[in-house]
Amino acid sequence: MVTPTSSDPELQNKLDELEAKLAQAREGGGEARTERQHAAGKLTARERVELFVDTGSFVELDAFVVHQCRDFGMEKQQILGDGVITGHGTVDGRLVFVFAQDFTVFGGSLSGAYARKICKVMDLAMKNGAPVVGLNDSGGARIQEGVVSLGGYADIFLKNTLASGVIPQISAIMGPCAGGAVYSPAITDFIAMVEGTSYMFVTGPDVIKTVTHEEVDKESLGGASAHRSKSGVCHFSVPDEATCLALLRELLGFLPSNNVEDPPVRATDDPWDRETPELTDAVPANPNKPYDIRTIIRSVADDGFFLEVHEHYAMNIVVGYVRVDGRPVGIIANQPQHLAGCLDVDSSIKGARFVRFCDAFNIPILTLVDVPGFLPGTQQEWGGIIKHGAKLLYAFAEATVPKITLITRKAYGGAYDVMNSKHIRADVNLAYPHAEIAVMGADGAVNIIHRRALKEADDPEARRAELVAEYRETFANPYKAAELGYIDRVIHPARTRREIALALRMTRGKRDDNPAKKHGNIPL
Ligand code: HXC
Repeated sequence: MVTPTSSDPELQNKLDELEAKLAQAREGGGEARTERQHAAGKLTARERVELFVDTGSFVELDAFVVHQCRDFGMEKQQILGDGVITGHGTVDGRLVFVFAQDFTVFGGSLSGAYARKICKVMDLAMKNGAPVVGLNDSGGARIQEGVVSLGGYADIFLKNTLASGVIPQISAIMGPCAGGAVYSPAITDFIAMVEGTSYMFVTGPDVIKTVTHEEVDKESLGGASAHRSKSGVCHFSVPDEATCLALLRELLGFLPSNNVEDPPVRATDDPWDRETPELTDAVPANPNKPYDIRTIIRSVADDGFFLEVHEHYAMNIVVGYVRVDGRPVGIIANQPQHLAGCLDVDSSIKGARFVRFCDAFNIPILTLVDVPGFLPGTQQEWGGIIKHGAKLLYAFAEATVPKITLITRKAYGGAYDVMNSKHIRADVNLAYPHAEIAVMGADGAVNIIHRRALKEADDPEARRAELVAEYRETFANPYKAAELGYIDRVIHPARTRREIALALRMTRGKRDDNPAKKHGNIPL
C-alpha cells in the first residue's frame, strides 16, 4: 500500500514523525535482541501476531505506550509499546483480541503500563463479545517496578476470572512463564505449549534445589512434556510456534465468540446420515478386550476430523471436538485402551473441566460410554476420588446444553450414572445391542450374590459358569434399561452417525435452566 504524501511541508513533517514512531515501535528491543530471539528458535511477538491472525487484519492498539518507572535509571530506557503488543484482528473472518508478550523488551517482563494494555484489550473483548488469545513469553514481574507489577498481574487475574465463561480465553506459552505469572494462563480455558522452548512453573529449579534439595532441570520441571502428561496443565503440546498458532486458529473454529452465541457452523460435503458400517465390528463383544474409542469418534465426525484436547493426559478418558452436520460437538469418551477406560482422579478432573467449558459456551456434548467403574485402590481413595469423581458427576448434571449419550459396551456401577445418564438430564440415550448396563461385571456380581451357593456347589466352577451366564442374560444387555426408558434407542453401529446427527438436530433448540443461585458449590 502506498502512503500518500502531503504538499504542505509542515503536515508532511507530522506524517513523517508518525511513521518514524511506528517504525521505532516495530523495532521492539532492537536488532540484537531480535536476533537472539530467533537464535533461540523463537519468533518475535509481532511475527507471531501476524502469523496468527488473518493476513493484514491486525489493528494494533497502544503502540506508543511507555512504562512509568523512574527507578534504577529506567526513565532513560523507554521502549515504545513497552514489551507487549496488543490489538485485534480476525481469524477466519471472526473478531479476536490478542496480546503478545515481547521478550526483546526487558525480557517481556510485566510493568504497570504493560498490564494496563492487556487489561484494555480484555475489556474490549468483553464489551464486544470476542475471544482473547494471549501469546506468552515473559520473564515475569518487571523487577524494577516491584509492587506496581504485582498489582498489574492481579488486575489481569481479576479480568481473567470475570471473563471466564463469557468469552473464550486461550493461552499459548512460547517462552518462559514463571512465578505467579502462570496464574493468568491457568485461569484461561486452554493452554498450548511449544515443545522445547516454553516452560511454566511457580518456583524454578534453583528455588526447588534450595528448599527441597531436589535437582531438576527446567524442561523436566515445567516443559511441554511435563505439563501435557504429568500435570495436565497444558491442553495442547505442539512441536513449533507455527503449528501452535495454526492449532489456535483451528480451535477457535469450534468455539462461539461468546456465551450468548452459538458455535460457528462449517459447511461440509459429508452427508449427515452417512452409514458407518466400519463400526459394526469396532467394539469387541468380549468386555475385557480393548479397542480405541477414537475409531468411533472419527467415524461419527464430519470428514473424520477430531481435534483432541489433553491428548497425553489421563488417557483413560478422551475429550475434544468434532463437527457433526457442520456443527461443533464436544466429545467425552471412556477409552478402553487405557486402564480399561475406568474413571480415576485425573480423568474425572479432565472430563469435568471439558464438560463445563462446553456447557458455558453452548457446545452440545456427546458422551461415549464404555466404563467398568472407578479405579480401585488406596492411591485413588486417598487421592480424593470421591470429591474428584463428584466433579464429573456435578458437571454433567448441571450442564444444560444438548446432551447425547451412546453406551458402546460397558456401563457399570456409579460410573453408569456419572457418564451422562438419563437420570442427570441427558436428552437422548442410545446404546449398541451389546451394551451391558449393570451394577458391575458378571464375574464380580456372581462372586458377591452367589458366594454361598458357590461354596456349597459340588462343582463350583461349573456352577459359576451357569450363574455368570444367567447374570449376563439378565443384565449384560441394554434391554432392561430400555424397558425402563433409561435408554431411548438401541441402535445398529452402522447407523451411529445418523442417529447422533438426528439427536443433535432434535435438540438444536433445547432450552433448560438451573435454579437461580449465585453459583453452585462444585466439589473442588
Ligand atoms: C526485568 C528482566 C526480567 C524481569 C528478564 N529481564 N527478566 N527485566 N524484569 N523479570 C531482562 C534481562 O535483564 C535481559 O535484559 C533480558 O530481559 C533478557 O533476559 P536474559 O536473562 O538475558 O534472558 P535469558 O537468558 O533467556 O533468561 C530468561 C529468564 C531470565 C530465564 C526469564 O531472564 C530470568 O530468570 N529472569 C528473571 C525471572 C524472574 O525471577 N522474574 C520474576 C519472577 S516472580 P537485557 O537488557 O540484557 O536484554 C514473578 C512474580 C509474578 O514474576 C507475580 C504475579 C502475582
